[in-house]
Amino acid sequence: RFDSIAMAAPDAILGIGEAFAADPRSEKMNLSVGVYKDAAGTTPIMQCVKAAEQKILESETTKSYLPIDGLPDYRNAVREMLLGDQVPADRVAVLQTPGGTGALRVAAEFLATQCSPTRVFVPNPTWANHTAIMRAAGLPVETYRYLGSDRHSLDFQAMVDDLTENTRPGDAVLLHACCHNPTGVDPTTDQWQEIAKLLASRGLIPLLDFAYQGFGDGLEEDAAGLRTVLQHCDEAIACSSYSKNFGLYSERVGAATLIAATPSATAASLSQLKIVVRANYSNPPRHGGAIVATVLADPELTKIWKTELEGKRLRIKQLREQFVAGMKQQPGAPDFSFLLQQKGMFSFSGLSAMQVDELRTKHGVYVVGSGRINVAGMNEEKMDWLCQAVADVM
Ligand code: LMR
Repeated sequence: RFDSIAMAAPDAILGIGEAFAADPRSEKMNLSVGVYKDAAGTTPIMQCVKAAEQKILESETTKSYLPIDGLPDYRNAVREMLLGDQVPADRVAVLQTPGGTGALRVAAEFLATQCSPTRVFVPNPTWANHTAIMRAAGLPVETYRYLGSDRHSLDFQAMVDDLTENTRPGDAVLLHACCHNPTGVDPTTDQWQEIAKLLASRGLIPLLDFAYQGFGDGLEEDAAGLRTVLQHCDEAIACSSYSKNFGLYSERVGAATLIAATPSATAASLSQLKIVVRANYSNPPRHGGAIVATVLADPELTKIWKTELEGKRLRIKQLREQFVAGMKQQPGAPDFSFLLQQKGMFSFSGLSAMQVDELRTKHGVYVVGSGRINVAGMNEEKMDWLCQAVADVM
């Protein structure tokens, strides 16, 4: 009976947003969920998106179902954005999915049902939802070491050792294509080469979570990890999201992209992926994918989008610099210069669970329990206030 159901714990990331919304204090700051906020503390709709929506409003003639794998123009645009022309189109299957989370779930169910007894190796630490998604799909989860004991840099040797010693051929390895969540610590170009060779030589399936393209070093630059993997491996799955780089969070727009060695393997894999989708959400929602496709089909809108995205990327870099400089002004506070090497929205602050707690209760600053800070939620005007709060709890 329902009255015997136990209360679940709040979500490790989204649960904090709920607590923030319920906090009556006027001086507060939400640095938990990975959402970009501008200098006024809002998350406005991008101009290119508004313009595309106007076009869609005028031209759309039906709300009939999309195909199971989504809007063809969107799927082509995703393939180009991820892969350029590196892989022939007949070796690539793209499915439009409800967000990057939807893509991960589809990929996980595909791996669990079609590639059994595959297991998936995820980095430690990783996005709080990865393990839950994989397990919910029936895919066994193992971890590999990622962050060094300084909590600021990659322990590459440990990562290589774990992937060499603990994996079996046919296992999948989840990699963050750029802007590692939660740490902001990415492999270097040379390390990506080594990772790619290791995956290929051990017969491991690369599973790339690509949610932050455009927030690290730039749109093309951020695709280098995925493209390096594909220089050495002839099979992979990439799960991408347009929540962040198009600011389409609530439209739930993402893609699962499978690359196979031959066109016939691609077609068979696509047919199985469609079965996974059909038994789950049937076919994807149209609007978000239509926005992305409309922007990318129009050179003028594409130009506006790239400028807007680059503006966000550079502003996050500035916020990192401002925070590091602000912390230097705080007597006795630790040096945060490591934030300058990290990429994307997030950084591991080094705050303990107790300090995270105190930051929330005493100062109204909300960060994830692991100490992950969403730099993209900071704000120039309140930077001194934030630095004082962080220094106080440290
Ligand atoms: C995050 O890590 O904050 C984002 O990916 C949003 C989410 O769904 O957790």
